[in-house]
Amino acid sequence: MEIAGLNDEILENMLKSEYAEKRPVFGFGPVKAKIALIGEAPGADEEKQGRPFVGKAGKNLTELLDTIGLKREEIYITNTVKIRPTKISPKTGKDLNRAPNTNEIAFFKPFLMRELEIISPKFVVTLGNVALNAVSDKKVSIGECHGKITNTGLYINVFALYHPAAIIYNQSLKEIYLDDMNSLAAILKG
Ligand code: URA
Repeated sequence: MEIAGLNDEILENMLKSEYAEKRPVFGFGPVKAKIALIGEAPGADEEKQGRPFVGKAGKNLTELLDTIGLKREEIYITNTVKIRPTKISPKTGKDLNRAPNTNEIAFFKPFLMRELEIISPKFVVTLGNVALNAVSDKKVSIGECHGKITNTGLYINVFALYHPAAIIYNQSLKEIYLDDMNSLAAILKG
């Protein structure tokens, strides 16, 4: 099956589910990519534009990839959960982002597995805990797995990174992040 067919199927299933009103954000990038990068879930900008990682976290991500000479156009980029998880702000009544819940992850995970089967990347790079655990057959911690290749039981070549948004909130992670990016660059060079 091709990605377009899979995306149609995701949409069909969404329409029959509690996510029927949501706008999906599907994976984007070359289907023959050597690297598939998996985030958590889209935010407001991504939902608006229908593309993963186009907002602030996306800008951060593009800059980080730049530091090791990777162009985002070479990479297949997707999310674990294809809809924007929201909660209502008690102050403004507007939608706010929240972390995806277990139901959302369970709904979208089988589609992520099939998406990865179609892309068959050499390396699966996960951004954050949700994505790392979505491609693992047991509970794993990003603190233990980041910055090196992990065999997660489902995939042999998983390279876990912290989520780029984490750097926005925790500047002390920046150095670790850059170290991890350099390790990734070395692995990609072979
Ligand atoms: N954060 C994610 O995990 N994915 C996006 O697409 C945007 C921000």
